[in-house]
Amino acid sequence: MNMVPKEYQINKVINHNEYLINGKISNWDGKHTQVYSTLLSVKNDDKPLLIGNTPEMSGDYALKALDAAHTAFNYGQGVWPTMKVYERIQCMESFVEKMKTKREEIVKLLMWEIGKNLNDSRKEFDRTVEYINDTIVEYKRIDRKGATFQNKSGVRALIRRGPLGVVLCLGPYNYPLNETFALLIPAIIMGNTTIFKPAKHGVLLIAPLLEAFKESFPDGVVNIVFGRGREIATPIMKSGKVDVLALIGHSSSAISLQDLHPQKNRLRLVLGLEAKNPGIILKDADIDLTVKECISGTLSFNGQRCTALKILYVHDEIKDEFLSKFVKAVDELKLGLPWENTLLTPLPEPAKPKYISDLIDDAISQGAKILNKKGGDKQKNFVFPAVLYPVKKEMKVYKEEQFGPVIPIISFSDISTPIKDMSASNYGQQVSIFGKDVDTLGPIIDSMVNLVCRVNLNSACQRGPDIYPFTGRKDSAVATLSVHDALRSFSIRTFVASKDNELNKGILREMIDSKKSHFIRTDYYL
Ligand code: G3H
Repeated sequence: MNMVPKEYQINKVINHNEYLINGKISNWDGKHTQVYSTLLSVKNDDKPLLIGNTPEMSGDYALKALDAAHTAFNYGQGVWPTMKVYERIQCMESFVEKMKTKREEIVKLLMWEIGKNLNDSRKEFDRTVEYINDTIVEYKRIDRKGATFQNKSGVRALIRRGPLGVVLCLGPYNYPLNETFALLIPAIIMGNTTIFKPAKHGVLLIAPLLEAFKESFPDGVVNIVFGRGREIATPIMKSGKVDVLALIGHSSSAISLQDLHPQKNRLRLVLGLEAKNPGIILKDADIDLTVKECISGTLSFNGQRCTALKILYVHDEIKDEFLSKFVKAVDELKLGLPWENTLLTPLPEPAKPKYISDLIDDAISQGAKILNKKGGDKQKNFVFPAVLYPVKKEMKVYKEEQFGPVIPIISFSDISTPIKDMSASNYGQQVSIFGKDVDTLGPIIDSMVNLVCRVNLNSACQRGPDIYPFTGRKDSAVATLSVHDALRSFSIRTFVASKDNELNKGILREMIDSKKSHFIRTDYYL
């Protein structure tokens, strides 16, 4: 611990043994999962450091959480789904204020649990707070739009958005706070009730927020349980009582979970899944800018982002210049501990270094070379990024989403090569295209917008800013997440219609004046 600055030290094991079900924080006295950090394990004989314990809850408790969420929703009759919109907003405002007080604690745990560097850990926290605040503003805007009657063909209608029911929310380890909350927050504010299980890494950092959830929302609206995905999610899905599966993770997990639901047409999906975003470098690309964008695109957070550039296509005519500059830039990167704010940091998954090394070995055995001197250098908790060229379709690194520090490169002479590969790919999230000539770029962009859902021009792929749509085609996503779209994804349009006659007009007028309905109203929140 000596090399760790005082403010980031963890001086004793964090024994977290609480969970939140039905508005009550209870102590777990069953089995626990040990939480290890790989940060300080460099050599083969260094063991990962035990930093905490979290409850390893059983399926029975998962069902208790489900029961609480189901009762709180009560077929749409519960307190939360029928509450006035501005009261739900007040609950969320109260939550975000409480959450802000936990910033330092959560940032520290982000570094220890997943190895994210200090700046990015702070960014993850602040971006989440901003996301919640923007969601509140956006919900008011959506609610305002629903405050006007329409009248068409003699039928008057007041159309709003209503909740869907019980949401099971499962987030990823690479953004254990931000991406999970990008599901949970819109789900809650739209009037749904939720069960949330943190990802496999980044679990301790949720513990400081249990109290804030408990104090801010009515009983049963947010239920937080800890344990293994299969143990917790299986009985919940099998019950058939889940209306929305909200998951950021792998498509294979999403499919297995859907398959457990006995009434699939009742299950709405909000899924952010894997991707293999290509970076395509045309012959007139600005090389220095492209190198810079490809470094951050491939290697921010060691490539552990669904939006990372996971394969680069470089035009034959500029291949040599690009590769020599790119390789130099990769070798200049520093590996450090998160508080040192290096781009490269230890990998949180103990098995990842071996997986990355295996990808490299497989590519080499099929004819690829490591172009950079440090490429593939292995430590217990890290593999230095290897720039692999030339990569072929038979190699694992071409086919698999590496989600780690290895950069496969292919050269091309005709743009139809990467476009055909993208068409054949199982994924369709984003692409980065580097070039200047509009005559060339125009038709390429026109093809690519129909193969993926975001074309980044001379810029690395990324999810943000969060007001922009984040989605994908094929196995990369189901539904769209932006601040606005997530509110739509977690709700459904529902409305009151009446024949336009004096009787109905009178009833509606009286209803609005007397404020007898939370749904039929024409006022709105500022
Ligand atoms: O893991 C996928 C994340 O949504 C990526 O988000 O592009 O902001 O890093 P980001």
